[in-house]
Amino acid sequence: MGLFITFEGGDGSGKTTQARALYGRLRRKNYSVILTQEPGGTHLGRMLRRWLTDPQSGVAVLPAEPSQLHLVEPPIGDQLLPDMVLHSTAPRAELLLFLIARAQLVDEVIRPNLLQEKTVICDRYAPSTVAYQGYGRQLNLDLINEANEIATQGIKPDLIVLLDIAPEEGLSRKWAAAGRMYFDDEELAFHRRVRDGYLRLAQAEPGRWLVVDGSQPKKKIEQMIWDKVAPLLESRELRREK
Ligand code: TYD
Repeated sequence: MGLFITFEGGDGSGKTTQARALYGRLRRKNYSVILTQEPGGTHLGRMLRRWLTDPQSGVAVLPAEPSQLHLVEPPIGDQLLPDMVLHSTAPRAELLLFLIARAQLVDEVIRPNLLQEKTVICDRYAPSTVAYQGYGRQLNLDLINEANEIATQGIKPDLIVLLDIAPEEGLSRKWAAAGRMYFDDEELAFHRRVRDGYLRLAQAEPGRWLVVDGSQPKKKIEQMIWDKVAPLLESRELRREK
C-alpha cells in the first residue's frame, strides 16, 4: 500500500493551504502523489458538496400542514405566513450525505491509488464526521464510527495532521474574506465542540496524529509537517514519477 496522509481542522484552520503545500513538495521530489478533498473529489462528491456547502439548499420553507402545500408558490413574500415552518437538512441526513461522498471517494480514488503504491493526501476524512456530526451536532458516536467503517472500507490514514486553532480565530479568518464580522454564540459553541472532539481523537491515538498549533506562521507549520512526513516517506517503497 502507498502512504495515506489526511488533513483535519476546524473552519479556517489553514489545512487546505498546508495540504496543497505538502502536495507541491512531494511532486517536486517526483513522488506519485494525489491530492483530493472531502466532500468532493469525485463527480458524486462534488454534487453533494454543492448541496452541503450552499446555505440555501438545506433550508426550505414549507407549510406546517401538508394539505397547504399549494401555498408554497413562488414568490413567497418576506412575511412568512404564520403556519409556515422552516425545514433544514436533518442532522442524520447531513451525516449520510458526507458518508456517501466518502464511500465514493474511497472506492474511486483513495483505495486504487494506495494499491498502486502512490501517496494520497486528502483534505478531510473520517475524523471530520466524528468531530462535526458527532461532537458538533452531537449525534451518536458509535453510529458514526460504524458508518465511517462502511464508507472507508476500514482504510485508515498513516498520518493525520490536525491544524488546531481557536474557533474565534479560524472563523474570523474565514469570514473576513466574505465581509462577515460576527458569529453568534450557538455557532461558536458548535465550533468549540468540534475542536474539542478533534483533540480527543488525537489524544486517543497519538501515534497516528500530528497536532500543530494553526496560529503559527504558514512556513513554520509547513516545516513541522515535513519533519514528520520525511521519515515516513523513507520507510516505504513508494512509487515515483519517471
Ligand atoms: P471544507 O471545504 O474543508 O471547509 P473549510 O476549508 O472551510 O474548513 O469543508 C466544508 C464543510 O463541511 C466544513 O464546515 C466542515 C464540514 N464537514 C462536516 O461537517 N462533516 C464531514 O464529514 C466533512 C468531510 C466536512
